[in-house]
Amino acid sequence: MSKFPQGFFIGAATAAHQVEGNNIHNDCWAQEQMPHSAYNEPSLDAVDHYDRYAEDIELMAKAGLNAYRFSIEWARIEPEEGKFDAAEVEHYRQVIACCKAHGLEPVVTLMHFSSPVWLIRKGGWEAETTPADFARYVRYIVGALGGELHYICTINEANMGVQVAAIAKRYMQQAMAMAAKGGGASVQMGMNLEKMMAGRKLAAQENMAVFGTEQPQCFTNPRTPHGDELVMRAHQAARAVIKELCPEMKVGLTLSLHDFQPQPGGEENARRDWDEEFTHYLPYIKGDDFLGVQNYTRTLVGPAGDLPAPDGAELTQMGYEYYPEGVENVLRAVAKDFAGDLIVTENGIAAADDARRVEFIRRATDGVARCVADGLPVKGYFYWSLMDNFEWQKGFAMQFGLIAVDRAHGQTRTPKPSLAVLGSL
Ligand code: BGC
Repeated sequence: MSKFPQGFFIGAATAAHQVEGNNIHNDCWAQEQMPHSAYNEPSLDAVDHYDRYAEDIELMAKAGLNAYRFSIEWARIEPEEGKFDAAEVEHYRQVIACCKAHGLEPVVTLMHFSSPVWLIRKGGWEAETTPADFARYVRYIVGALGGELHYICTINEANMGVQVAAIAKRYMQQAMAMAAKGGGASVQMGMNLEKMMAGRKLAAQENMAVFGTEQPQCFTNPRTPHGDELVMRAHQAARAVIKELCPEMKVGLTLSLHDFQPQPGGEENARRDWDEEFTHYLPYIKGDDFLGVQNYTRTLVGPAGDLPAPDGAELTQMGYEYYPEGVENVLRAVAKDFAGDLIVTENGIAAADDARRVEFIRRATDGVARCVADGLPVKGYFYWSLMDNFEWQKGFAMQFGLIAVDRAHGQTRTPKPSLAVLGSL
C-alpha cells in the first residue's frame, strides 16, 4: 500500500544549467571557461537534457513518477537585457507538454542559481535594479507559459548566498583547524571553497574582463544582508506578477535547510543558525502558497559552532553526513512557523552505490509519510536528482542521479534500481 495519499507528488528534480548543456549566456558558463575557475570542469553539453528531455520524461513516467521539477533558464529566455527569445519559450512549452502527455505534473523553477551575464554586469544580486529585472523576465515567461502550469518556484534556495557568506567567513577563521579535522560546516551544493580562495587574484582579473568587476555578484556568491533583502524583494515582485497573470497559480520559493541538532551548550548557536537559514525569511514568504524544502544532511551544533560529522559516520560523495532522517526533522521545524503547504523540492544523496540511495529514499520518505500522517500539509517529495549531472563547481563526479548517464558514449541513459523504488511509492 502506498505511504502517501492520492495526488501526492512523487517526482524528481533537475536544474537547467546542470542538465541541459550549452547554456552559453549565463554567468556559470562564463566562469567555467576561465583559466582560474573554481569549477573543476566546464558544463559543455552537460547531459544534453535540452535535446533528450522526451527520453528522460518517458523514463520517469515508466517508473511511476507523477511529477517533474525542472527550471527555466533565464539567460536562454532573455540572453540580452530586454530582448526575449521566443524560440526558447517554445522549447519549454514542449517540455511542459511532454510532461503532461506522460501524466507528470510540471513544477517549474524560474531561477535556479544561474543568471544572465548582462544581469551580473549590472551588479547582479546586490543591485537595486535586480528585483525589477527579475520581475520583467517573470512577466514575459509566465505570460507565455503560465496558463499551462499549476506550480511555480520563483527562486531556488533563496538563502544560498547567505549560507555561502557564513561558510566563507567560518572558512577564513578556521581554515587550518577545519582542514585538520575533516570539515565541520557544510553547504548543501557543490562548491570548491579552497580552490576559490587559492585562485582569487587571477580569477579577479578574469572576472573583470567578462563582468566588468573583479567580484561579480553571482547568485551563489556570499550575500550581504542588503543583497539578501533584494533576493526577497525579487521573490515578492515575481509572486505579485504571477498572481496578477495567473491568480490560481501556487507560488513559493525554495530554501536550503539543514537539520541543525544542538549538542549540550549549542542551543543558542543552533537557534541563530536556524534564524539565519529560515526564520528571518518568514515576513517575506508568509503570503506564499507553499515552501519548497530542500535538505541533504544534518549539522550538529556545539557551544563553539557547527561540529564535524560524528566519528565513524558514513559520508556521501559531497563530504557531508549520510542522514536520511534530516528531511523529516526539517519539515517538522518549518511547519511550526510557516502556514502554507510544504513540498520537499529536493532531497537526495551523491553515492556511487545505488543501494545506499535506495535506503536513503526509503528512510527519508518514511519520515515524510510520518509528517503527512501527523497532519502536516506536505504535498510532494522530489528526489534530487533525476540523473547524474553537473554538480556546479564539483563538475560531473558527483552521482546524485536515479539515472546514470554515459557522457562519453552518446549520452546513454541507464536507470538505476532507485528510480523504480521511487516510482513504486
Ligand atoms: C541545489 C542543486 C544541487 C544540490 C546538490 C542544491 O543546493 O539546488 O542545484 O545540485 O543541492 O548539491
